[in-house]
Amino acid sequence: MASCCVLRELQQGGPALCPSQYAAQRVRTAGPPPRPGKMGLLRGSPRRPPGPIRPLRSWAPPGPGTASGWRARPGRSPRSSRSMEPHLGFRGRRALVTGAGKGIGRAVAVALSKAGARVTALSRTAADLESLAQECPGIEPLCLDLADWDATETAVGAAGPFELLVNNAAVAVLQPFLEVTREALERSLDVNLQAVLHVSQIVARQMIAQGVAGAIVNVSSQASRRALRDHAVYCSTKSALDMLSKVMAMELGPHKIRVNTVNPTVVMTDMGRINWSDPQKSAAMINRIPLGKFAEVDDVVNSILFLLSDKSAMTTGSSLMVDGGFLVS
Ligand SMILES: NC(=O)c1ccc[n+]([C@@H]2O[C@H](COP(=O)([O-])OP(=O)(O)OC[C@H]3O[C@@H](n4cnc5c(N)ncnc54)[C@H](OP(=O)(O)O)[C@@H]3O)[C@@H](O)[C@H]2O)c1
Repeated sequence: MASCCVLRELQQGGPALCPSQYAAQRVRTAGPPPRPGKMGLLRGSPRRPPGPIRPLRSWAPPGPGTASGWRARPGRSPRSSRSMEPHLGFRGRRALVTGAGKGIGRAVAVALSKAGARVTALSRTAADLESLAQECPGIEPLCLDLADWDATETAVGAAGPFELLVNNAAVAVLQPFLEVTREALERSLDVNLQAVLHVSQIVARQMIAQGVAGAIVNVSSQASRRALRDHAVYCSTKSALDMLSKVMAMELGPHKIRVNTVNPTVVMTDMGRINWSDPQKSAAMINRIPLGKFAEVDDVVNSILFLLSDKSAMTTGSSLMVDGGFLVS
């Protein structure tokens, strides 16, 4: 009997009753039919007909002036501005973010500060740091050119200790391989690789001396894993950064310091705009990204916050792709 009830339920799309159950329910539900409205959805009332499933977002081919093929459903905000900060346990923790004057680094500094961390924002242009301190008064500015080894040693050493570090500062000088200049190569190696190693050394030594568990996130790129035209130097520095991060994870793990990378696809920050504003070039890249769009700054920030937080307490030596699937395509 049970199976016949189940079968009928499946056929009729609603709860099925065997004859004896049906008679008993008729007794219980005798009386006027339920009034329409909320109560009308209770047992004994007609079921609400199933409506069409409405997607949160729909896809349309990228058009002129739009980097993304995804469109928000009308009536919905295109992107939630809520971030994960209330749950991540940053309150009172000391964080250093490099390259925090603009773009991704600036957004990370603001997000960490809003989540209660005590943030030191390191960057090169004083005006950027002044406007950041106005926007977010709790943030401590540190104006420094990371290409200067000695100045970095003194300034970062004096600013610490820190429990959280985001090595985000980088330069992207795009040149065809045959035209790469010594200056571009040296500058890129200085900022994208050498400074990450050096700042991490200074911060990690202090973490170890203080006996605190720490987390380091190095901002790499999809370009660390895929050859891109005119990116000989940039790809090489990011590739080296991924490997540096793995060795750091191996050697710092026993000191309870986790090290991971976040590897974004193109993001339309100043760096992204300089290199990807040409519509033909950006369309060719978007066509290789399964999700059909570039990343937003928030996409990268959320991944960095996750890897800094105890939510990823067992993750070290890994790279989190924020690439819309570029690397699997
Ligand atoms: N945007 C993208 O498409 C993209 C894609 C993948 C990965 N990434 C990575 O994401 C990170 C952030 O990129 P972004 O797009 O936010 O770049 P951005 O908009 O150019 O901002 C970079 C920040 O780093 C600072 N900086 C650069 N050189 C410095 C130095 N020598 N000393 C101190 N600060 C320095 C810059 O300051 P100044 O302006 O004063 O020099 C700026 O505040 C980088 O590691 C980048 O490689 C970016």
